[in-house]
Amino acid sequence: MRCVVANWKMNLLFPEASNFCSTFAENYNPVEDVRVAIAPPSILLWTIHSQLRGRGITTFAQNGHFEPKGAFTGEVSMAQIRDAGCSGVILGHSERRQQFGETDEVLAKKVAAAQSHKLLPLLCIGETLVEREREQTFSVIKTQLSVLKGVSSGPIWVAYEPIWAIGTGRTADGRQIHEAHHFIREELRVLLGEAGSSVPILYGGSVKASNFGSILSVPQVSGALVGGASMDPLAFAEMVKTAQEA
Ligand code: PGA
Repeated sequence: MRCVVANWKMNLLFPEASNFCSTFAENYNPVEDVRVAIAPPSILLWTIHSQLRGRGITTFAQNGHFEPKGAFTGEVSMAQIRDAGCSGVILGHSERRQQFGETDEVLAKKVAAAQSHKLLPLLCIGETLVEREREQTFSVIKTQLSVLKGVSSGPIWVAYEPIWAIGTGRTADGRQIHEAHHFIREELRVLLGEAGSSVPILYGGSVKASNFGSILSVPQVSGALVGGASMDPLAFAEMVKTAQEA
């Protein structure tokens, strides 16, 4: 199975998002083993879900709270995300870890909460440039993955996103991606047993239509989490086609 996920972050207003959906849907033909998801800002979730319903494109939230409900001003629960038509939720994106103080402890609760509401968690992991230069990449990844310890049976996707490659135009090279994904696969097998062999591992960080084909050809790469380039419907449609033809 291959997966292509658009992460719009805090971008697009309703008319732009709506135009995206029309243009993308016109240029997209679903294929069974390629999953396509769009993660708009939470205020657009229901609208985008409604517009794309029945077209083989699912919606993901970009974050969710682990508590089922209550006095958490500004937060959205997994039940509400599910209620807005989502099938998954991005968790632990580096922007949330760095700018909003999300810790592995909180993420362990979020993964469990997502699964218990039948949402697919897309757990993001990855090292900073300083950590890479200090040769701490594998230990950082190992710690971030440890939130999956004791996670039950539900499906999960992982995205390896080296922080120095996000929004910088600088992609990790094939060898760096291969080493990281191979390490992640081994860790997933340790943490999840046989189920760890089939967890899709996406790459993220300055993926665009022109480099996605070569990234997808790296062993253990199941797809991509795409930020900047995912807001252009034709470019995103081209990336999906690349995944379908790979
Ligand atoms: P980018 O973002 O494609 O703009 O680098 C990826 C991400 O943050 O998920």
